[in-house]
Amino acid sequence: MCGIFGYNGIEPDGVKKILEGIHRLEHRGYDSMGIAFLTGDKVECFKVAEDEKVGFDIKDLAKKIPNKKVICNIGIGHTRWATYGGKTVKNAHPHFSNGLFIVHNGNVENFEALKKEIDAHTLYSETDSEVIVKLIDKIFQDTGDLVKSIEKVMKMLVGANVILIMSKDHPGQLFAANKGGTILLGKSDSGVIIASDPSAFEGYHIIKKRNLETNEVAVIHSDFWDIIAKEVVTIEEDYLQDIDKNGCDFYMEKEIFEQGAVLRGTMSGRLILDKGNARLGGINEIARELRNVETFHFVGCGTAYNACSYATLLFNRFGISARAWIASEFCYSHPVFGPNDAFFFISQSGETADTIEVVEEIQIKGNICLGIVNVPDSRIARLTDAGVYIRAGKEKGVASTKAFTAQLVTIVLLAIYLARQRKMTIDTGMGIIEELILIPEKIEKVLKQKNSIKRLAEKYKEFKNYYFLGRYFNSVVAQEGSLKLKEISYMHAESYPLGEMKHGPLALIDPSFCSVVIIPNDSVHSKGVVNVREIKGRDGVVIAIVAEGNSFELADDIIEIPEIKPRYEYLYPIIATIPLQLFSYYMALELNCNPDKPRNLAKTVTVG
Ligand code: AGP
Ligand code: GLU
Repeated sequence: MCGIFGYNGIEPDGVKKILEGIHRLEHRGYDSMGIAFLTGDKVECFKVAEDEKVGFDIKDLAKKIPNKKVICNIGIGHTRWATYGGKTVKNAHPHFSNGLFIVHNGNVENFEALKKEIDAHTLYSETDSEVIVKLIDKIFQDTGDLVKSIEKVMKMLVGANVILIMSKDHPGQLFAANKGGTILLGKSDSGVIIASDPSAFEGYHIIKKRNLETNEVAVIHSDFWDIIAKEVVTIEEDYLQDIDKNGCDFYMEKEIFEQGAVLRGTMSGRLILDKGNARLGGINEIARELRNVETFHFVGCGTAYNACSYATLLFNRFGISARAWIASEFCYSHPVFGPNDAFFFISQSGETADTIEVVEEIQIKGNICLGIVNVPDSRIARLTDAGVYIRAGKEKGVASTKAFTAQLVTIVLLAIYLARQRKMTIDTGMGIIEELILIPEKIEKVLKQKNSIKRLAEKYKEFKNYYFLGRYFNSVVAQEGSLKLKEISYMHAESYPLGEMKHGPLALIDPSFCSVVIIPNDSVHSKGVVNVREIKGRDGVVIAIVAEGNSFELADDIIEIPEIKPRYEYLYPIIATIPLQLFSYYMALELNCNPDKPRNLAKTVTVG
């Protein structure tokens, strides 16, 4: 994963720029941070990591730089998500070999084999990144040609890897190389910025941008770059938005509370009420091909996978065959699919390695590949044949919140569009749209209950075990609720379809085990009530998410969500997810966990 940032320009405040760049990339990992920069003819390198200070932040790195007025216009920075070696200063990037300094994003899968190519005794860290720089240095010592040395080593690496290099012997240049990952180059008024993703371009007036494609090497000067091997392709500039917390304590809080507005944006201009249809520009051109698709496959990881589960339930409900796949399991599951099947790849970041691996596999097979992505111009957006953006705006919190609900709304729009191509009537389409438009307001109503949900978190903070349970569409809400709680408050949480309890999980129920049950007024409500009785009959504790006005005396506590007309019960997950996000968020705060930076995780998972 890791965030890479580089600056080569004309302004003397390069160090500040690099520190800001690293800070903007923290969603890619925060196990350690480091910077190397050239000042005069000297390279300075500073690092900070977990073993030195638990809970460190970018200010701790800044404090290490003794000369606050240092003049520097070239340097590199890194924020790490450890894959090879612990979260220590020793393993923190930049790594170096003689005058070469490297920051690296990826996994060198043939790391052990490559180690044999260098003198392993000289290694000071446990990382694969150090092996890369040592190898480049070794070849550079022999050939004197740095670009060729980089090209040669990149060819030797197995796995997806991106590097950025600064060399003491090449004072005005940086060198970037990509093999299977993502790195962007941006030319601004003040110089060239190199970054793992576009969030680090914020605050710059970017005149020209370019993705460094796979197998390319770039030589970066202060006002231009040379690409070795490929043609220049400029990319759209439409993702540079404000990333501040808008008065909130954490990004997660901000992102939860903006969901009403976000979903209005997801739907904006896409609803054709009088035709009972959705307008989806991104897939319009392949409408005919989509009409002939037999089965739609949805592929994603984590929260995005939960959205895939929702999509399959909804598509099948509308009479369209669909399946969900966990991306990291796909390639060796011997998936069976026909030539007329199409694949949707759901990903907030559009950079998830596991999901990208499946895109690449499906491209070989020749099936239609479609993206449901948040970040424009991200790798999945570029790799797929067509797709629909979820328009959630920048999501910084590691725990996905607004992207999930925006994914669900996008799936509803897609389901309407594809079902209208098939058997859905105009009246049915109109009815769904009329109910869908009400969702943002209903979400805002749930958000107003924040204080009572906060009190629940306080009341339940001593519980160490949670089940999240729901039937049919709300089994997806249970999956997502359980992931959220686990992720940011480190509580043990599992999810099951409610009807599964009696087949095993019920054995764990006792007064110290809390079950969060999503049980609104839908077609499976009465079956769910029976299951809740079974939990209560074993002295389990139950928090129930119920439809407004339903007192549900069986539960120990209830959270009400606005009612949805029974025939549109599949829209419940979009609002039922909100109280669970709030519950997890306040639980994390109760337990003194930082919801924006859960331990061991990173926002964008670019390693497979
Ligand atoms: C969600 O809260 C998680 N942090 C994680 O499961 C995430 O959804 C997953 O890694 C997929 O990311 P993507 O949507 O960017 O592909
Ligand atoms: N493999 C490198 C390390 O462990 C980079 C990890 C990453 O990109 O997430 O430091």
